[in-house]
Amino acid sequence: MSRKAALMTASQIILKPNSVLGLATGDTPRGMYQELINMYKNNEIDFSDIVTFNLDEYYGLPPDNPRSYHYYMENTFFNKINIKDENSHIPDGNAKEIKKHCREYEFKIKNHGGIDLQILGIVSNGHIGFNEPADRLNVKTDIVELSEETIEANSRFFNSKNNIPKRTISVGMATILKAKRILLLASGSKKAEAIRDTVSGYIDPKVPSSFLQLHNSVILIIDKKAAKLL
Ligand code: GLP
Repeated sequence: MSRKAALMTASQIILKPNSVLGLATGDTPRGMYQELINMYKNNEIDFSDIVTFNLDEYYGLPPDNPRSYHYYMENTFFNKINIKDENSHIPDGNAKEIKKHCREYEFKIKNHGGIDLQILGIVSNGHIGFNEPADRLNVKTDIVELSEETIEANSRFFNSKNNIPKRTISVGMATILKAKRILLLASGSKKAEAIRDTVSGYIDPKVPSSFLQLHNSVILIIDKKAAKLL
């Protein structure tokens, strides 16, 4: 899965060296990042002109906190390839004027011509980025309250449920759906219901990933366990 995802991402970069990539965190894309690092080390791919925008960040975590997505991205990927510092963007969980920061983040994505390829993971409740199941979903980058299910799923990175920030910054649904191509990665039976509801259910804000059915270029890279309810 990781190799396939990396090859698709690499092909995007080879075809358009100044591609704008939307990047995800979590355990799922780690293997893909490692494959891309290997390709870089073998001189097969060059990141010097790519621009990246991450999906999300925990609200209130400084970038040097090992649980922040800044820390994850620096240590999992950015420090190991030749991306320019000024070309990687992650929402700032510590921004003073948070609403203004969200608006500026959105504006920067637009100014770079939008996302060419968006990498997505998914949580069992169908959230993408940190767009949680709700009656109404955010259109643009904004502050999001985490659901109990996500707190449960992600508290493994924080030792206990009490330590995980309950709010995050996430790009909105329209921001994701405006990407030219989307790659959704999922593995394991915990993701099976979410994958079924993503591709074969109704379009429902209670399953944010179901909105991907409105997009005309989504590729799912999933294993048999995640696909077992299809
Ligand atoms: C977090 C991120 C999501 C990501 C998810 C999946 O919640 N905000 O963007 O998809 O983790 O995590 P994992 O791949 O570890 O299952």
